[in-house]
Amino acid sequence: MTISPLIIANWKMHLTLKEAMAYAAKIEKILELQKSNKQLIIAPPSPFIASLGERFPKLQLCAQDLSIFDEDGPYTGEISAKILASCGAKYSLIGHSERREYFDETNVTIGKKVQNAIKHNITPIICIGESLECRQAGGFKDLLSYQIISSVPTNPIPKELIIAYEPLWSIGTGLVPSLDQIAEVFELILGHPHLKRLAKACRLVYGGSVNSKNYQNLLSIKDIGGLLIGSASLKEEEITKILN
Ligand code: PGA
Repeated sequence: MTISPLIIANWKMHLTLKEAMAYAAKIEKILELQKSNKQLIIAPPSPFIASLGERFPKLQLCAQDLSIFDEDGPYTGEISAKILASCGAKYSLIGHSERREYFDETNVTIGKKVQNAIKHNITPIICIGESLECRQAGGFKDLLSYQIISSVPTNPIPKELIIAYEPLWSIGTGLVPSLDQIAEVFELILGHPHLKRLAKACRLVYGGSVNSKNYQNLLSIKDIGGLLIGSASLKEEEITKILN
């Protein structure tokens, strides 16, 4: 059985509700017309998840983050995994580098969020990646390894888990690692002793400056399960080609 590659569209903090609904309608048409062999997952701003889910029941929806708090409570501004699940989120990005950078998220925080997601049947998409300085200094494997150990729970074993390798130097920059560099990181992840019991549950995706020109090449990497796409996912022409 061949598994369809995941195309995870990270809309970040873009679009109004009206624009998001109109764009989703176009995407739904593309999916119908193309009979794409890829599985599209859309990560819109959280307030749009419920409306998108009601209007486009075939679209799979992903939150961009969820709260570290699991129980209902006085946490103004927070959105829990339970609330997101009740709105129709089936996946959630966790530990995206923009959250690590602008909201000081630590690996420990991320680990807790991953547990909350799993508890509410939301598949976590755990984002890991190194900065350029870290790669050049040569310590990137240790850093990635630490990110994995501290954020991936192994007890109980999650049913499904996605790890997104997104080097910081590639997000939004137009720089993409070589296929060998990505394959090297995938090998590190899959061979990591911490993930030994998780091998079957774990899918790997790559993210960072993916577009319609490089996606096919990237999808040829051994063990790749899909792509996490930011800016190109907001362009109709780009996403049409990528889903084709
Ligand atoms: P990009 O973003 O495709 O615009 O580089 C990827 C991401 O941040 O997930």
